Amino acid sequence: MELTREQQDMLEGKCGEGAAIAMKIQVAIGESFNAERMMPITRAHVALSNQEADLWFAERLLKAGAFCKIAPTVNPGFCLSYFKNAGMVDDKYADLMQRTHDAYKGLGAVLSYDCTPYLGTNIPYYGEVVAFSESSATPFVNSVWGARSNREAAQSALCAAITGYVPEYGLLLDENRRGDILVEVQADMKSDFEYQLLGYMGKKIGNGIPVFTGLSKPITLESFMNLGAQLNTSGAYGMYHVVGVTPEAQTLEQAFGGKEPKRKVVITNEDLENILQEISEVGNRKVDFAMFGCPHFTLNQVQEIAEMVKGKKLAAEMWILTSSHTKEMAERMGLSSIIQEAGGIIVEDTCPDQPCWGHLNGKFGVTESPKCAYYPKRRGMSFIIRDLRTCVEAALKGEVI
Ligand code: F3S
Repeated sequence: MELTREQQDMLEGKCGEGAAIAMKIQVAIGESFNAERMMPITRAHVALSNQEADLWFAERLLKAGAFCKIAPTVNPGFCLSYFKNAGMVDDKYADLMQRTHDAYKGLGAVLSYDCTPYLGTNIPYYGEVVAFSESSATPFVNSVWGARSNREAAQSALCAAITGYVPEYGLLLDENRRGDILVEVQADMKSDFEYQLLGYMGKKIGNGIPVFTGLSKPITLESFMNLGAQLNTSGAYGMYHVVGVTPEAQTLEQAFGGKEPKRKVVITNEDLENILQEISEVGNRKVDFAMFGCPHFTLNQVQEIAEMVKGKKLAAEMWILTSSHTKEMAERMGLSSIIQEAGGIIVEDTCPDQPCWGHLNGKFGVTESPKCAYYPKRRGMSFIIRDLRTCVEAALKGEVI
């Protein structure tokens, strides 16, 4: 790779050991993808994790004197003050979360603890070169905002935030942003929920950049958020196009860059019904809890729940996970009190795949997110997946009918 004087100095340790480690990793990534040079970035999002290996990496960089040139927003772990005060988390995990907080604070990150930064705190503009990790974040910034990011790992995004550069390869280049697979959606996309199921069709869609047709406008931000999150739960996708909607796909020809699609796939109502049956526990049973906010819930979604539970009492626990910004807005707007009076809890900075959910081990829940049902399985939680309205009704009755 050809490096500028500044990048070469960083690599040689003239800007400190921390920057040198980060640059060394990025040059190795760049060389393995045949990148010719580095590109400056203006934003980053790190899918931080409070697990030991990820924390080791962040602390290693911190001890080596690294500091982020571009302050990245970060993913959720769990809300330390809430779960510690509630006695819901062991000291060992509380300590890991505290150390994660301290490490990222020391590195100069924006401690947002939110996995949907592209909707509020970290929104790139069209064509901006950025380094975003996190399943729903990378496809959203590429596909909806038209920014340019590779599908970064938490570690490579952190290195990019430290050096201020990314190797130029993959989705940073025009020729790699064109569509590969034509996905004709014949299914009825009635609500944001169908986009969760469409996203979970990764096995049928296959590898490459999907170009969706047949999706009628308007498509909500929540639908795009769901689509990206589930595409990266059922497969690995840095970007997609929706013809006539996303900025680089105003026409089918533009989406494919004038080339023929490598594959054609049709998605029907039956496909969505089948995938739901495959990934959801069987319904018609009592449920212990409802969990929403994977990815973190938007204010619209919190509002929808508040309207449904107003003046009622929940028969099952209800957890709504969101960003601290959305939680604050929900409090100001009186939505939090409505949900709390019904018996629900809105908690910020928290993800379902965390050690703070020990009391739900062995329990049955409802969620509208296949991703929420997928990862916490290893923590002993089982989920029935339904649309949001059905899930809220189930939490009110204590059972899915
Ligand atoms: Fe966000 Fe955690 Fe789900 S990072 S998308 S809430 S698994």
